[in-house]
Amino acid sequence: MSEDLTRPVGDCLWTIDGDRVRMLGIPFGTRMTVVRLGDDRLWIHSPVKPSDERFRAVESLGDVGHVIAPNKLHHLFVAPWAERFSSARTWADPALQRRRSDLHFDGTLDDEAPAAWKDDIDQVWFRGSNVLSEMVFFHRKSRTLIVTDIIQNHEPEEDTWFWRGVKRLNGILAPDGGAPRDWRLTVRDRDAARRARDVLLGWDIERLVLSHGRCIEHDAHAFVRRAFEWVGQTA
Ligand SMILES: [Fe+2]
Repeated sequence: MSEDLTRPVGDCLWTIDGDRVRMLGIPFGTRMTVVRLGDDRLWIHSPVKPSDERFRAVESLGDVGHVIAPNKLHHLFVAPWAERFSSARTWADPALQRRRSDLHFDGTLDDEAPAAWKDDIDQVWFRGSNVLSEMVFFHRKSRTLIVTDIIQNHEPEEDTWFWRGVKRLNGILAPDGGAPRDWRLTVRDRDAARRARDVLLGWDIERLVLSHGRCIEHDAHAFVRRAFEWVGQTA
């Protein structure tokens, strides 16, 4: 049954797991997040590869109003989801919009949530890396932080010993996941990263939903604070 695909995480927030994929040879699981906004429309974050079952699972929750590409790596399946839900608007991380002028998005995201979801979801543009920036979101009703790539927490039992070792070294293996060490090295503008970190730690985070790996169901603020300790103290 398609309903089995959707996992309720908090009030008006669900996740749907996607395929296990490889990128640059590295295996990892994928996950999308679905939020029901106050106007009853659905907001879908980092949509996974669609299938009829996954389309139906989302349709069982409502009509999609917004499809989010939160960083330049997570846009592959925005188009098919937007085609399926023809009134949906597509939104992109600013860096993605800038670098991929061949892709069409209806809106560009920034530090201020658009009117369409500002009553439900806060957001911050986590910048400072010269390689990968990311839009991070906080769904107020379920007190859930939604992160794509800049925190990962891969399940050890899903990997071979080799990949477990690689992921542990990169700081992204559960239960001690966090910001990937290779990405941290690309964050040259620490002040910008600190500002974004301070904004998101100001939110009343109970849950953490991740695109890659194990989510945190309770007291996630402490996990997130630890995950961003490397950014350092604000002067
Ligand atoms: Fe990713």
